[in-house]
Amino acid sequence: MRQTVRPAGCLSGLVTLPGDKSISHRYAMLASLAEGPSKITNYSTGADCHSTLGCVRALGIEVAEEGTTVTIQGRGLEGWSKPAGDLDAGNSGSTIRMMAGLLAAQPFDSRIFGDESLTRRPMGRVMKPLAEMGANIEAREGQFPPLAIHGSKLHAIDYTLPVPSAQVKTCVLFGGIFAEGITTVRESIRSRDHTELALREFGADLLVKQKVITLQGRPKLTGRELIVPSDLSSAAFFLVAGLLVPGSQLVIRNVGLNPTRSTLLDFLLSIGAPVKVQRVEAVNGELIGDIEVRYAPVRGGVIDTELTAALIDEIPVLAVLGAASQEGIVIRDAQELRIKETDRIATVAENFKRMGIDVEVTPDGMRVPGKQKFRAAAFDSFGDHRIAMTFAVAALAGDGESTIDNADAASVSFPEFWNILEQIAG
Ligand code: S3P
Repeated sequence: MRQTVRPAGCLSGLVTLPGDKSISHRYAMLASLAEGPSKITNYSTGADCHSTLGCVRALGIEVAEEGTTVTIQGRGLEGWSKPAGDLDAGNSGSTIRMMAGLLAAQPFDSRIFGDESLTRRPMGRVMKPLAEMGANIEAREGQFPPLAIHGSKLHAIDYTLPVPSAQVKTCVLFGGIFAEGITTVRESIRSRDHTELALREFGADLLVKQKVITLQGRPKLTGRELIVPSDLSSAAFFLVAGLLVPGSQLVIRNVGLNPTRSTLLDFLLSIGAPVKVQRVEAVNGELIGDIEVRYAPVRGGVIDTELTAALIDEIPVLAVLGAASQEGIVIRDAQELRIKETDRIATVAENFKRMGIDVEVTPDGMRVPGKQKFRAAAFDSFGDHRIAMTFAVAALAGDGESTIDNADAASVSFPEFWNILEQIAG
């Protein structure tokens, strides 16, 4: 699909976004292993989270969907049955990496695959700790999907994460659910902690002391009612849009403000963005609130070390903001971007080139000078949802009509994106 985006006069309105992708995956997987039904409200509408539901269904668990409410009839830790065919993770790294931890501990073999992009993403990072736990997994060329998982009895390990990755942390903790004894995961840089919060919500005995997480194996997980906050990483596109288009004022409702994710707001504030948070409340251990953003010129700045890890999904759209900022933006320590749905350093740089934006690419990031003029362009998402939405936002500040090829990629996390964009651009 080719999408046309025209420059916007100003953006205004009240925006409601789909449920958080990271939290939806975790709630669905844990609900499928809990005893009794779980009702999940505001489940993500993104294709990725539906890949997770497809896997759960294929494992013999009843899943009912009514709009964005998902009811999952969990049958306890021993409740999954051998799938009739291969499990399809689609485009979703979270699905394949987190499910790997759970599948490795089953009393049956399984195979999980994904689309062309997922087939190029490295799985060694989850295979290594799982092998230490006693798992038996084969991958194409030793590290790429599909994964052939021979179910084994797992044992608890003490694992230090070599890269800051919530997916790897989750995979180990999920394997640890089935292991006797205490599984420990140590992080050097904190990654998003939705798994820890969700495990506790379902009744697991889990402790977090600074960056060390311990989980008591074989917990009794109990089905429950859960509400998914709206996705802050989806909100990021509208926050940046509001900061690019003069005169804009947007309110985004019920957004997840978990401190391991809301670094985005701290960063925006630190560069002079008038972002305000209202009506904050805690739901299922997660924080939810409304965010208001008004247009203002921003300074720009440096994203490196821990900040890079905390903003990893938002970096493409922040790079666009950087090009419009007063001083530009420097992104370092972001080599992880090269192994996302696309090499996001390369796909951002290619689209920048098409719109006449100067960028200096480095192996682990980029340097984007500020105060640049945005030209209309023919963009490509290269099949990456965040790249599609990032350059739709850039197009709002263009000097004419832009197009985005493969725009349907946005549906991976945010199928409503194009409609909402049209609404707020008036
Ligand atoms: C996610 C973790 C991050 C993030 C991804 C979702 C998660 O990946 O980029 O979009 O839900 O745990 P890594 O854990 O690989 O950093």
